[in-house]
Amino acid sequence: MSTPSFRNSLSNDCYRRAKTLIPGGTQLLSKRPEMFAPEIWPAYYSKAKGCRVWDLDGKEYIDMSIMAVGACILGYADDDVDGAVVEAIRRGVNSTLNCPEEVELAEALIELHPWFDMVRYARGGGEAMSVAVRIARAHTGRDVVLFSGYHGWCDWYLAANLADDSGLDGQLMPGLQPNGVPRGLTGTAVPFHFNDIGSLRDTIRGREKQIAAIVIEPARGEDAPGEYLQSLRDLASEIGAVLIFDEITSGYRMCAGGIHRRYGIYPDIAVFAKSMANGYAMSAVIGTEQVMQAAQTTFISSTNWTDRIGPTAALATLNKYCRCDTHTHIITAGETIKRIWQEAAHASGLELEVSGLPSLASFTFRHTHPHEMNTRFTVEMLQRNFLAFRQFKPSLAHRDDDISDYRDAINDVFSLLARTSPDRLLVSPVSHAGFQRLTRE
Ligand SMILES: Cc1ncc(COP(=O)(O)O)c(C=O)c1O
Repeated sequence: MSTPSFRNSLSNDCYRRAKTLIPGGTQLLSKRPEMFAPEIWPAYYSKAKGCRVWDLDGKEYIDMSIMAVGACILGYADDDVDGAVVEAIRRGVNSTLNCPEEVELAEALIELHPWFDMVRYARGGGEAMSVAVRIARAHTGRDVVLFSGYHGWCDWYLAANLADDSGLDGQLMPGLQPNGVPRGLTGTAVPFHFNDIGSLRDTIRGREKQIAAIVIEPARGEDAPGEYLQSLRDLASEIGAVLIFDEITSGYRMCAGGIHRRYGIYPDIAVFAKSMANGYAMSAVIGTEQVMQAAQTTFISSTNWTDRIGPTAALATLNKYCRCDTHTHIITAGETIKRIWQEAAHASGLELEVSGLPSLASFTFRHTHPHEMNTRFTVEMLQRNFLAFRQFKPSLAHRDDDISDYRDAINDVFSLLARTSPDRLLVSPVSHAGFQRLTRE
């Protein structure tokens, strides 16, 4: 195969400049091109619309990867959401007074989750999780947070790696370093394994009254077992801890609002970001009055949490999400893509494990050289005009034609990968698997 032709692109030139100006090059780990195909992945976009993205050189791709890390559930630059935002901009995005959209949004979110009573807002997912944990600590007067899953960049969470720098390794993102997190926070965040209530009970025995909160992602790869969620609900009530569901990724993927609506198991607080505003900065902490009122006993306040764009975009997103039956569309699209992967793997003789909720689908090459396979897969798909990765987050904008074109490309690329010997897989530097490699170059 010829050497891929992306190396001298404007996007790569921009990324080379970025690395001298911005530590790490990007603001989000998952947008570093090294995660996909170093020196090849186009890194920057000039325009995005529907499920299409144009890089700085004007090359057009169909995005069959992570759709802005799951934020753009309706597709890029959605006309209805953008129309509402443009209107809000014309009427002023900030002022000395508050925007009424944040009240309207609170009413809409509570109507969707009637077991909750009150809402606070932030603009990012990680900061909303910090707000939720602060409220839980204020409400209980306790310090320790038990958690499983990924919950963002903030001190309360990274503190888990102070006691043991592999504490977070089983929680989605291995190798996170807690440098800069005060040593005094050691022991305040304790990880436990998903769906292992026995070890959780062992972990807390004798210190039940120190536990402020139990924090989980109610679903990540797969649906959480109902008994597990119920046991957590019972345990939190028994020890007087606040049960927090981080719905930043699971929210809006299987239904409007929280996935816990489908399970019928209700936390004290749920946290939303990402998909709730189709890519605009917005996050929400929504919970019972009893717990949320503790926000009044501590200081949680920020200027840009009052802007009009976030709640306007969230309202317009929720509106369109429900009107277009978006969850049905993305679940069907995700199921189709999982079938395409399985059938192409079968036809080509590749060993592939396909997993995940349909709207958070992923695959893993069962191969002696998985990183090389991932990298070459992405490189080959780029050459066929797809942004592609081993995860696919469908949006309302993915239509049958896009999926059918993707099917052809997948058949082609899987067959090529199956025919390529391991020592000839790489035609570019290999993709990086986690945080460590990216920070230690
Ligand atoms: C479950 C979960 N919690 C928290 C976060 C952090 O959100 P943000 O990246 O908006 O800070 C993420 C982001 O991937 C997430 O998936």
